This record gives sequence, structure tokens and C-alpha cells, in this order.
Amino acid sequence: MCGIFAYKGKRENASEIVIEGLKHLEYRGYDSWGIAYKSKAGIVVEKRVGKIGELDLNTIQLPTSNTAMGHSRWATHGTVTEENAHPHFNEDQSIVVVHNGIVENFQELKNKLIKNGHTFKSETDTEVIAHLIEDYMEVGFENAFKQALKELKGRFAILAMHRDEDKLMAARRGSPLIVGKGKSEYFIASDIPAFLEYSREVMYIDDNQMVVLNDTPKFYNIETGEKITKRIVEIGWNAEMAEKGEHPHFMIKEIKEQKDTIARAINQNEKDIMKVANEINNAFGTYLIGCGTAGKVCLAASYAFSEIAKKHVNPVVGSEFPSYKHFIKKGSLVIAVSQSGETADTLEAIEVAKQKGAKVISIVNVEGSTMDRESDFSINIKAGPEKAVASTKATTAQLAILTLLAYACVDRLKEGRKLLIETASKINDMLNPRYEQHIEKLAEKLRGHESMYVIGRAMNYAMALESAIKLQEVSYIHAEGFAGGELKHGPIALISKGTPCIALVANDETKQDILSNAIEIKSRGGYIIGVSPENHEIFDYWLRVPDAGNASPIVNIIPVQILAYKLAVMKQNNPDMPRNLAKSVTVK
Ligand code: G6P
Repeated sequence: MCGIFAYKGKRENASEIVIEGLKHLEYRGYDSWGIAYKSKAGIVVEKRVGKIGELDLNTIQLPTSNTAMGHSRWATHGTVTEENAHPHFNEDQSIVVVHNGIVENFQELKNKLIKNGHTFKSETDTEVIAHLIEDYMEVGFENAFKQALKELKGRFAILAMHRDEDKLMAARRGSPLIVGKGKSEYFIASDIPAFLEYSREVMYIDDNQMVVLNDTPKFYNIETGEKITKRIVEIGWNAEMAEKGEHPHFMIKEIKEQKDTIARAINQNEKDIMKVANEINNAFGTYLIGCGTAGKVCLAASYAFSEIAKKHVNPVVGSEFPSYKHFIKKGSLVIAVSQSGETADTLEAIEVAKQKGAKVISIVNVEGSTMDRESDFSINIKAGPEKAVASTKATTAQLAILTLLAYACVDRLKEGRKLLIETASKINDMLNPRYEQHIEKLAEKLRGHESMYVIGRAMNYAMALESAIKLQEVSYIHAEGFAGGELKHGPIALISKGTPCIALVANDETKQDILSNAIEIKSRGGYIIGVSPENHEIFDYWLRVPDAGNASPIVNIIPVQILAYKLAVMKQNNPDMPRNLAKSVTVK
């Protein structure tokens, strides 16, 4: 869950390039950071606790260098201290490494290395890698790196440099790593935005592959040592898409982008949509899997498939899917939904599905991500870079694609497309400054509360769960989502005078029931915030949304996203980097 980035080329401000690039990867981890660069005196390391985004370049001395690498950390092994921040050296400071992932057998390796006379400075698993390479140095840096990799258990992305060698080494098993190609210069990063300013030509490093970056990169299979030829892929994102622009935070930028992203998401090749729809129709059983917000999208989609396509699809949380492996067989279909395409639990679910002979289709935002490449087929949601930890525009783009697929399953693709295009245009009208102000006023009323609840039914039950995640993630207010009908089985005991409760009311067959549930809450003193196309007497505060029929989850979640954002800003929380959370969860 960390961000790593390296530069090697002709420019002399390598360390500055790495620092600026790391700022784009901060969403992957932001408790501490560090860089290592080559200077005449050897390898110099600078580390700090805190966010790299807050670093003022004028406060740090960066001598000229044309090779540097860095890391933005999200602590797993070892507390948040400068010692534990990456990069990590070996004893004589000739070898330096940064690492994303977990060395599962680090204690065993560490014990062995201590016996061999090594001493350690940090509590991290990463430091063992530098010492392990050192232990093999008699076969040369490149081979020592290869040997060390063979001993590591677990998922990783690693970069290493040696004081006396003009080479950057990189390797991947399970954690993302991409090479960017510039003019006589190369970049290696966990994610593309780190180098978008310089390059849109990329080479994807696959699992169990390593790169030796000298003047040009050479790729090898870690296990067999076999040389690999890589294809250069041009990517469709540009540097501007990964910038905040005039917006104070990425989260609000991305919320507002939903004016365009829904229409863009459904602008897919008809053949691709029909291909996936046919797979669903012919599958022995279809599983929709995702984690966090993507998991809630899967749940919402299961109702959409029931309603629109009269089809049963099984929504399963990524980490829980392996426990269903006993049902999975040839003929089963797994559709993985993920913004990043790198979430470890979803990747593991895919691995299990493939082992059992199931077909895998992914719906992802990041082109070339592991999920994209590991699947038999994939659909890109085209939301553009999503950098705020709390997912917004990727969520609605995923909902749009899955709704479209439900229509496609019953040959109603045109009708689905029309509905979603109309919804996109209604969202365009809804997202105006007056609407934002109206939600800001509500945030003022809610900011002092300790708990809030969200209720919904059917597709909007899933959105009630997603609403709770949004509110928790950035406002740090305790929020829980419930199925409206479940209230009387327990949660209603939590309602007292003034307890805020958001009711997601769609204009469908669930409307009367969810309104009755809201009345039950109101009669216990609850403060009802209605998200609905119409105002109802029981609402204490009305957040108007367009009537979007089967696309109601898309329109209903948007005001809650704005509310969560406004609460975060009012409470002086950083909505883009909420405490304890990372955007891309690449560990299990
Ligand atoms: C993390 C993020 C969430 C996201 C989830 C799944 O928890 O903070 O916003 O929904 O991972 O990520 P994915 O990239 O697979 O959609």
C-alpha cells in the first residue's frame, strides 16, 4: 500500500523529479516518505515522517543527480518513524532499497542474517532485502538481486540501487510496477500519474519479472532468468487529468467530474458489452466481486440484474470469495469490479476463480492494471485518474456499466443507454453551486453529531451502505447503513431525539416502504434527511435528486458524497487522505 518511484536519465534533478512524482502517489500511503539519490559521495538518503505533499522544496538540499528513487509509506511492519521510513540501507550503505508489499518470511530471514553478522536499524521487513542482497554480492549486484528475490515470500514491488553500479533494479510479484519511457530517460513507478508529466509510453512489469535499468531496460523472468521482450503501450491519460486544477481537493474535483464520467463510462463498444452480457447469460453462475466501495457497487448491481434482467447474480466481498470456491467450477463466471485493478483481496479472488476453471471478466479504471491483464476480458470504466482515497466518480461509472450490462442481458441495450445518458445530463444540471451550498448548510447542522444512519431498500440499500462508508471515511463521524426493513430488528434502538438519518428514497416499488421506515425513525425523534426526487412531509431536510428510474443509485449517492466532503472540510480533515486509509490496498 505504498508508493514507489524512480528516475534514471540525463536530467540532473533526479531527486526533485522523484519528490514531485511521489506527491502523485501519496494516495497510496502518506505516513512518511524518503528518497535516495546518487551523488559523487555515494548514495544519499533523506527521510521524513509526515506527508510528502507538505514538503517545501526550499527546505531541503538536493544536489545534482541523475538517478534517484523514493517511497511514500503506509506502515505495515514497524511504527511510523524516520528509521522505519524507506529507503533502507545495508550495513555499509552501498545498497539501498524501497519496497511495497510484505516480506512474509522476514523474521526467518532476519534471524539468519543476524547470525551471519548483520545488524539492523529499523523494525521493517524491507531492511532484510538490502542485507540479503549484500550477502550475495560476490556474484555481482544483478545476480545478487536475483538471488535475494528468490528467497522472498509474499507480494512485493522492489527497487534497488548500488553505490558502485550505474543500474537501477526493479522487481515485481503482486504489487504494481510500471516503467515509463521518456527521451533517453526512464521512470519506474507504482502508478502512472507519477510520471505522466514526462511520459505516456509505458511498459508493464508482470508478476515474477524484474528489470535491469541501465541505458535501456532489460526485462527478465525472476524464476527462470529468461529474457523478456516488452511492448510499449501508449496510455490515454494526460498530466492535467491527474491534477487538482482549480479545486481545493481531488475529492470535490472527482465528484464534479461525474457530470462527464457517466456518459464516458457507457460509451463502450457495443460488441464488448454484448460479449459480456452473453457470458453472463450463458454462465453456470455469475459472481460479482469487489472490495470496499466496489463491493457495494456489486451489491447494488445484483438488484439491478434482478430488476432489469430477471437474473440472479451473486455479489461477494473480495476477501470472502475464496470461501465460496467449493461452488466454483468450469462454467462459472467471476466479474471483478475495481477502480485500481490492484486490490489484493480481489486479485486473490481472481486467482482462486481461475484455479477452479472459472472465466474472469474485470471492470476496472486503471488500464494495464494487474486485474485488467489477469482477466480473460475487461471493460475499462474510463473515469480517468481517481486520486482521492474515497471513491466517487469510479463508483458511479461502475454502477453505470453494470446497469448497462443488465439491460444488455435482455436485449434492451438501447433503452439502458438512453436511461444512462439522460441520467448523466440530469446530473449535469444537479451539480451546480446552489446545490453545493444547500448541502453545505446541512453539513453545518450535522457536524457536531457523533452518529448518523442511512437507510435504503433494494439497490438503494447497497447505496445506504456506500453512503455510510463515504461519511465514515472522510468525516470520521460514526455512520451506518441499513436496509429499511431491518430497522425494527435492532437498529431503531439507536435512534433518539435529533439523531440524523438519511433516507434514500427512489421513485420505485420500494418508495412507500422506505417512507414508512423513515416515519418510524421520525416518531422516535430522528432528524430525517430525504434524498429523493420529491419532497415528502416527513423530511426535515430535502436533498433533491433527479428521478432516474433504475439508475437511482447513481444519482442518490452523489449528494451524500458532497455531504461527506463538506463535513470533512468543516472538521478540518483532509478529504483526499483520510487517516488510516489508503486508496490502493495491495496487502491482504
Ligand atoms: C480501498 C479504497 C476504497 C476502494 C477499495 C477497493 O479501501 O479506499 O475507496 O473502494 O479500496 O479498491 P478498488 O481499487 O479495488 O476499487
